Amino acid sequence: MADPGLPSSQPATSGRRVDFCGLQLDHPIINASGTFDAIAARRAFGDALLERFPFSAFVSKTVTLAPRQGNPPPRLWELGAGMINSIGLPNKGLAGYLEHDLPALAALPVPLIVNVMGSSAEDVATLVRAFGERDEVAALELNVSCPNVKTGLLMGADPGEIAALLDGVRPHTAKPVIVKLTPNCASPADVAAAAEAHGADAVSLINTVRGMAMHPRRPGEPWLGGGAGGVSGPAVRAVALSQVREVRARVALPIVGMGGVQSGRHAQDLLDAGADLVAVGTETFRDPTAGTRIAEDLANCEDPLSAQPHTPARIAQRG
Ligand SMILES: Cc1cc2nc3c(=O)[nH]c(=O)nc-3n(C[C@H](O)[C@H](O)[C@H](O)COP(=O)(O)O)c2cc1C
Repeated sequence: MADPGLPSSQPATSGRRVDFCGLQLDHPIINASGTFDAIAARRAFGDALLERFPFSAFVSKTVTLAPRQGNPPPRLWELGAGMINSIGLPNKGLAGYLEHDLPALAALPVPLIVNVMGSSAEDVATLVRAFGERDEVAALELNVSCPNVKTGLLMGADPGEIAALLDGVRPHTAKPVIVKLTPNCASPADVAAAAEAHGADAVSLINTVRGMAMHPRRPGEPWLGGGAGGVSGPAVRAVALSQVREVRARVALPIVGMGGVQSGRHAQDLLDAGADLVAVGTETFRDPTAGTRIAEDLANCEDPLSAQPHTPARIAQRG
């Protein structure tokens, strides 16, 4: 297929290289889990995708132990400023992923971060152990927007749940473990602090914000097949900024900031709020090369402080 818009050269991002948990990345822009299908993109763009990959690391969509079908349709609702999705994490499960997806993703020219989710610490530990021993995998991201089947509590909403989860998972890999925080809780900063105290290497935020849409023709019925869904895109950018700043004030861990990023300015804002990397999600639905464009934009954002680590002292300095 013809290349419908991949830029003709590597992004001009020199000077924005980042060391993230020991991974050497060309620039601070990565993809948000579940929003860029690199295997489909390779089919569409061919080797041009490998030569000019839009992100400095690739984060997989969420992988669970058993295969999942995902939610019934409809799965998307467009908003004035973003969308609500109720995709429901369809995936091939651990065995299917190892057999079919991992070899294809290992061919990407950037480090691979595998995002996993389970409904108990034991399930997550099994996933982390399996991926932790694979050379193709550079780091793991834990999607904790899921109830614990044993306690009924949303894992990522409760500091005690996160502490127990990390205690169960941490011994199974020496690879960097990133905890992806949910915004749907009283205090993501408390959860981040528990993650830091129990061995996480980094946190990422925000996941989607819970929301719903009513059916336009059937009063009282939800539009989405799954009932409620998750809001993403520009509508959540202000929430992301505020939560990244709150989390940065509490932890020294590296932070991946995301939520509604569409431009270099938006990415720089998240870096200024305390993030070390920025992930782009919904924007790639309308522009699959958004990562390259935003990384180039960012390289042109003048901010000498950006070259410095995001310490709490630096935040205080900014006021
Ligand atoms: C269609 C869609 C699918 C997503 N799938 C996942 C997923 O599999 N795992 C996950 O941790 N987050 C998933 N997310 C959340 C994104 O990774 C990201 O946290 C969120 O969308 C905010 O970023 P954005 O506003 O740039 O999209 C998904 C988001 C969307 C819109």
